Amino acid sequence: MSKGQFAQPCNNPHLPQLYLETYGCQMNVADSEIVVSIMRENGYAVTSQIGQADIILINTCSVRENAEQRIWRRLAALKKTKETKPDLLVGIIGCMAERLKEKLLENETGVDLVIGPDAYRDLPNLISTALTGQKAVNVMLSREEMYGDIPPVYQDTNTVSAFVTIMRGCNNRCSYCVVPFTRGIERSKDPKMILADVQRLSLLGFKEVTLIGQNVDSYRWRTRGAKNSIDFARLLDVVAASVPTLRIRFSTSHPKDMSDAVLHTMASYPNICKHIHLPVQSGSTRILKLMNRGYSREWYMDRISAIRTILPECSVTTDIIAGFCTETEEDHQDTLSLMQWTGFDFAYMFKYSERPGTIAASDLEDDVPEAVKGSRLNDIITLQNSLSVESKSKDLNRIVEVLVEGKSKRSDQDLFGRTSQNKVVVFPRGNNNIGDLVKVKINAYTAATLLGKE
Ligand code: 5AD
Ligand code: SF4
Repeated sequence: MSKGQFAQPCNNPHLPQLYLETYGCQMNVADSEIVVSIMRENGYAVTSQIGQADIILINTCSVRENAEQRIWRRLAALKKTKETKPDLLVGIIGCMAERLKEKLLENETGVDLVIGPDAYRDLPNLISTALTGQKAVNVMLSREEMYGDIPPVYQDTNTVSAFVTIMRGCNNRCSYCVVPFTRGIERSKDPKMILADVQRLSLLGFKEVTLIGQNVDSYRWRTRGAKNSIDFARLLDVVAASVPTLRIRFSTSHPKDMSDAVLHTMASYPNICKHIHLPVQSGSTRILKLMNRGYSREWYMDRISAIRTILPECSVTTDIIAGFCTETEEDHQDTLSLMQWTGFDFAYMFKYSERPGTIAASDLEDDVPEAVKGSRLNDIITLQNSLSVESKSKDLNRIVEVLVEGKSKRSDQDLFGRTSQNKVVVFPRGNNNIGDLVKVKINAYTAATLLGKE
């Protein structure tokens, strides 16, 4: 196959048409780019018009129950569409396919194909089976699948920023999390392939890459016969050095594994963005233990102190779960006080959702009443809003460097982009274009956005 390309929707009406919907995390977005590549190689064109589709694939998320419910509702709607278009194939791919397997084919769901995250190479065979009227399933997980030889087809028209998958799967066993079951064991990609991906993106005109994995800090590559292995700090170093004009981001870091070496590498390269997404989940050591996160409140605070010392300009964002099993008011207060102490710049915040098959589901009772989960989540959101405002206020009157990603949603006359700290900035367009790096003076802010002028 040739180098990475862009999907051109409706590019050939004579070919069978694929319509692909993607839900969930960055890993799914990156996987969808692999799926498009495989489908194009096998004679499909991508359409953005669902009505023109011969096959609809839905790349799904299982991390919380409401993510799955959304897909079930989507399937009910698609089943109606199938009644008027009997040849249409519908496939569920990704984490929900892996978790529910054949169950997705039961009871007239209207699903023809079920394909797990490590089985996308089998898509052409599975589609051939489905075209004969049989249901097709492949949910085999792999110890080594990285799709390293398949060039992603970037679906987004945004040519500024792209994901590069550096590892797949997860070896942690956070007790609430379904991901190790849906994405299998952790494996790292050959650094040579990662470098080739990044350089290809640079040649294609991208200005920023985000290295992604479930836990990038446990990245490790051992070349056979070589004495030393390459860890994440070293990978970051070689990637940043190989494309000095590209911005480098990464996600997701894990507090138990994030080393000072990674922070020092970040400090020594201006092109590595000063932003760390470091999910805390809870501020209570007791709850962190039940979550099997592998660190305490104090350990997390130590990691934040290391960031503040080594990278004073770095922003820190997080994930928080409200109302995990046995969480008391005191545990909840510990979460709020840790949020306040850290001063997160942004957070993704969730109510605990019990997932079948996880350690928490089998060993712990989901005993925090729904109303209590809701009110704790509200406390967390309210506090984070004020922390987000505080974070933005620190940029007032500063000059920040913005990588322009597109036109602002509100006005054609304004552009938007991100700072190194991943803060969104909106400013008047002037003579600037998408992909430019622009120095902007910040003169106002909301909880979500910085506003400024060149
Ligand atoms: N319930 C609620 N939130 C969850 N997450 C993962 N599993 C669950 C669950 N069962 C959240 C965590 C994780 C993010 C991707 O999703 O905060 O970091
Ligand atoms: Fe899930 Fe924990 Fe792995 Fe993240 S690190 S994917 S929360 S098991």
